[in-house]
Amino acid sequence: MKILENTQFELAAAMLQAHYESQPLAFVHSYGCQQNVSDGERLRGSLLRMGFGLTDDQNEADLILLNTCAVRETAEDRVWGHLGALKGLKRQRPELMIALCGCMTQREEVSERVRRSFPYVDLVFGTGAIHMLPQLICQRLSDKKPVFYSSDQPRVVEGLPIEREGSVKAWLPIMQGCDNFCSYCIVPYTRGREVSRAPEAVLAEAQEILAAGYREITLLGQNVNSYGKGLLEPIDFGGLIKRLDSLPGDWWLRFMTSHPKDCTEALIDTIARSRHVARHIHLPVQSGSNRMLKAMNRHYTVESYLALIDYARRTIPGVTFSSDIIVGFPGESEEDFAATLSLVERVGFNALFTFIYSKRNGTPAADLPDPIAYSEKSARMQRLLDTQSAIGARLNAAQIGKTLRVLTEGPGRSEDGTLMGRTEHNTIVEFTGGADLIGQFVEVTIERAQNWALFGRLAI
Ligand code: SAH
Ligand code: SF4
Ligand code: F3S
Repeated sequence: MKILENTQFELAAAMLQAHYESQPLAFVHSYGCQQNVSDGERLRGSLLRMGFGLTDDQNEADLILLNTCAVRETAEDRVWGHLGALKGLKRQRPELMIALCGCMTQREEVSERVRRSFPYVDLVFGTGAIHMLPQLICQRLSDKKPVFYSSDQPRVVEGLPIEREGSVKAWLPIMQGCDNFCSYCIVPYTRGREVSRAPEAVLAEAQEILAAGYREITLLGQNVNSYGKGLLEPIDFGGLIKRLDSLPGDWWLRFMTSHPKDCTEALIDTIARSRHVARHIHLPVQSGSNRMLKAMNRHYTVESYLALIDYARRTIPGVTFSSDIIVGFPGESEEDFAATLSLVERVGFNALFTFIYSKRNGTPAADLPDPIAYSEKSARMQRLLDTQSAIGARLNAAQIGKTLRVLTEGPGRSEDGTLMGRTEHNTIVEFTGGADLIGQFVEVTIERAQNWALFGRLAI
């Protein structure tokens, strides 16, 4: 673990003050998962500490920082599109600094493409170099030529300033990296080996978050169940949950992501006994076919997954589940896909995140023959979406008439004057109420249901 020193922020602040006539503004956009959003919050915090202001308008920014995601080709394409669109802006304002960080930059081929096709990019650095931002910006300002900084393994750096994006829900990273090497996945290559944060650091950050008035904390890690590996103090994820659960107040604790191979009955028992943990588990299954799970290197079976779900349902009354599914993994047959549909029916997830397989160079699955046509994969995806949409509608309709506890997050989407919040099962609820309820727990009686949300009125 490394503790950050303040001097680099002071040095950068002095340099920026000398360089810019007025306060420079930074635009930061994070693509990808919550882990990236959380990194983005630390980048924003660092920029503020250096003396930048933050802006949502890239046209007025002096620094545009894109925090990228490489998980699927579509994610990368969005970044390339964004970069392409910045060419005109850079031509108008050559002093604009364009920086690229996050998972894509960890890929050698990406740096090459940036050099070749986007020579107006000023700064490229990887996921393990977030704490280097002040030095890298200074280097770019003094060198007058693009800076490419590659670091090997990510490590945990404590003490970075954080500028969180919301005021009700907070992300709390408990580890970096991933050791699982699912055969389709680029993340272990972009984020390196697993490193856990010390429990004291996690606890201190949770205390800060709660003291600042947040009502929900989501612990983040690519596989939170393997938390604690390599730490001096013997502690596992259940142990961490127990410590966090002892923090006082009215708040919810969530975590993602749980890998089914490491999610134990002991952890389920801990959740059942906790005061703050929301009764909802995101447990990505990826496929309902044992043959595919083996090819994906997932190390569990459909039977063990279902046994875990059944155990959780017996132990935690009312618990709900969400999941991730990959459609069209190389070699997925109609029978394999039918098995996925039947698993989805059997579990009855209250939310499902579905992805068509995307080949990632450098992963083992990229070398597998993949004879299924994309049109067939899209058709399977549609069948999966239809199946899930019927399940979602059924589960939501069953809530009508119930009074549910809801954490109010902000304005609603459906009508002016409505608010939206979520239940502990992560289901969206819309209702009418004053803005003073934002950040509060309320009771809402459900009157109507759609696929994506429940609608109700405040219970008195
Ligand atoms: N560590 C988490 C999240 C990983 S990325 C986990 O293990 O669940 C989030 C999701 O993206 C994965 O669960 C998987 O469903 C999907 N995904 C990852 N790589 C993919 C690929 N190459 N093609 C399609 N989907 C992918
Ligand atoms: Fe990727 Fe698997 Fe690690 Fe999740 S557990 S990040 S899917 S390798
Ligand atoms: Fe994307 Fe990196 Fe997250 S590849 S999904 S931003 S860990």
